[in-house]
Amino acid sequence: MSEHQVYIIVAVDQNNGIGKNGQIPWRLKGDMKFFKEITTKTKDPSKQNMVIMGRKTWDSLPEQFRPLPDRVNLVLTRNADSKFEGALQASSLQEAVELAGAKIEKIFIIGGGSIYQQALEQLDLAGVYITQVDLAADCDTYFPEVAEKFPHETSLGEMEEAGIAYEFFLYERE
Ligand SMILES: NC(=O)c1ccc[n+]([C@@H]2O[C@H](COP(=O)([O-])OP(=O)(O)OC[C@H]3O[C@@H](n4cnc5c(N)ncnc54)[C@H](OP(=O)(O)O)[C@@H]3O)[C@@H](O)[C@H]2O)c1
Repeated sequence: MSEHQVYIIVAVDQNNGIGKNGQIPWRLKGDMKFFKEITTKTKDPSKQNMVIMGRKTWDSLPEQFRPLPDRVNLVLTRNADSKFEGALQASSLQEAVELAGAKIEKIFIIGGGSIYQQALEQLDLAGVYITQVDLAADCDTYFPEVAEKFPHETSLGEMEEAGIAYEFFLYERE
């Protein structure tokens, strides 16, 4: 088990939808900024955070935006022949978190659906950052309900963009 604090970070619509056809069905600059800040910021300036993602989420990032800067990127794949430029890779979530060494401060699980599901089942998570987007988008990928396991809800602020309201929450154990 990793000694690092591990968090999930996700944006969901009103029905816990997170994706459609390999993409996120909305584009909210304020949420992208929040994601960047939360996943990049460290208390110790000599350390970086690690972001762990599934191969399909890596594929969904435009080439010029990957690897995500100032964070150690790790891609999960079962295909040992795959190569991801600028990222580490692992063939299981356990192996992924064990690759985080002393220079890593926190670990963020950044999707997609299959990786979130496995992280909730297999890892001892410190918390879940959820951006609740006030939209009923057309989705084919969903995030599980976590309120029961992480009942302590903190609002970290709300925003509105192009008529779409959204609010940032951190869910933790009691
Ligand atoms: N709204 C949000 O916050 C958010 C965030 C991230 C992603 N998304 C969306 O989520 C969707 C993608 O989710 P997804 O569930 O389809 O795909 P995914 O979780 O991103 O990637 C799935 C792939 O990860 C690899 N994988 C999964 N479990 C593994 C394991 N235990 N060990 C090793 N490799 C493993 C496999 O890659 P191989 O096939 O290479 O073996 C699998 O095909 C997209 O629509 C994306 O835009 C939304």
